[in-house]
Amino acid sequence: MKIAFVGKGGSGKTTLSSLFIRHLAANEAHVVAVDADINQHLGAALGLDEAEAAALPAMGAHLPLIKDYLRGSNPRIASADAMIKTTPPGEGSRLLRVREDNPVYEACARTVRLDDGEIRLMATGPFTESDLGVACYHSKVGAVELCLNHLVDGEDEYVVVDMTAGSDSFASGMFTRFDMTFLVAEPTRKGVSVYRQYKEYARDFGVALKVVGNKVQGPEDVDFLRAEVGDDLLVTVGHSDWVRAMEKGRPPRFELLEADNRMSLQALQNAADDSYAHRDWERYTRQMVHFHLKNAESWGNAKTGADLAAQVDPGFVLAEAVAVPQPG
Ligand SMILES: Nc1ncnc2c1ncn2[C@@H]1O[C@H](COP(=O)(O)OP(=O)(O)OP(=O)(O)O)[C@@H](O)[C@H]1O
Ligand SMILES: [Mg+2]
Repeated sequence: MKIAFVGKGGSGKTTLSSLFIRHLAANEAHVVAVDADINQHLGAALGLDEAEAAALPAMGAHLPLIKDYLRGSNPRIASADAMIKTTPPGEGSRLLRVREDNPVYEACARTVRLDDGEIRLMATGPFTESDLGVACYHSKVGAVELCLNHLVDGEDEYVVVDMTAGSDSFASGMFTRFDMTFLVAEPTRKGVSVYRQYKEYARDFGVALKVVGNKVQGPEDVDFLRAEVGDDLLVTVGHSDWVRAMEKGRPPRFELLEADNRMSLQALQNAADDSYAHRDWERYTRQMVHFHLKNAESWGNAKTGADLAAQVDPGFVLAEAVAVPQPG
């Protein structure tokens, strides 16, 4: 399943993503983690030292390879150059799986060893001030979107994306690519204002959105969040000494994380699992086509000089069965 952590800057997206990833690994799940946050800190939060984090390959720099691989022999896509971030898979496209080796992972993913197992980590690469709002930024996040749209994920497989709740993800449709979106909010007015904006976009597309209260200090904080977001509040997380120790570069073993925080992480996993159980692959495919047509019309056709609507394979539905050979 595909899971996003979004929220206001500094709310704790990266921290909670990394704790959730550690929790999944402890539960022996298969995890691909993706750092698509403006501040690229997921590697560090997963225990990489500065040199290791800096050595992570940038997905944005491998966009041509990613496009070329995913295009496969799809006759509707003339060349990798004609592929934009929303180009949907069709007959002949190559799909990605969580548990496999492929050239995309080889170029863009690194294995990270945690206390309780290994996960794969991919990163968009650092954003600079000048990236924001311009083509470069789009291509960095676009690499993630292309991969998500070509990724066939199974029940005990998790793709966890640490991401910015930016307008780019609304325009491209990236925000509809997840079975569950966890909106991390501190109990402040600014914290919940990002929730309101997200909720508005999410409503029209049936996006499953849950709020994770973070840095919650007591019942008044919980009451505030409950009053602002109602039943969308899934769990709250308090200040964690474990996190603080990790930030000092002295991470205790993950099993020593506070028990109530560990229970919150399990609640996140349960919510994601529930949501995946209702995944409607046809709707999922329909939405990627919807946003592709929208992007084609607003800039893609002009940029590539082609009618990108022709890239849509009307008979194609992304589904587990497309990529995973059924037994017997
Ligand atoms: N529950 C927590 N307990 C203790 N410290 C926390 C907790 N949540 C977040 N922090 C601390 O708050 C700071 C911001 O958290 P984090 O980097 O995860 O936020 P972010 O939303 O990813 O920020 P950015 O927008 O900069 O990427 C970090 O120093 C982190 O260690
Ligand atoms: Mg972050």
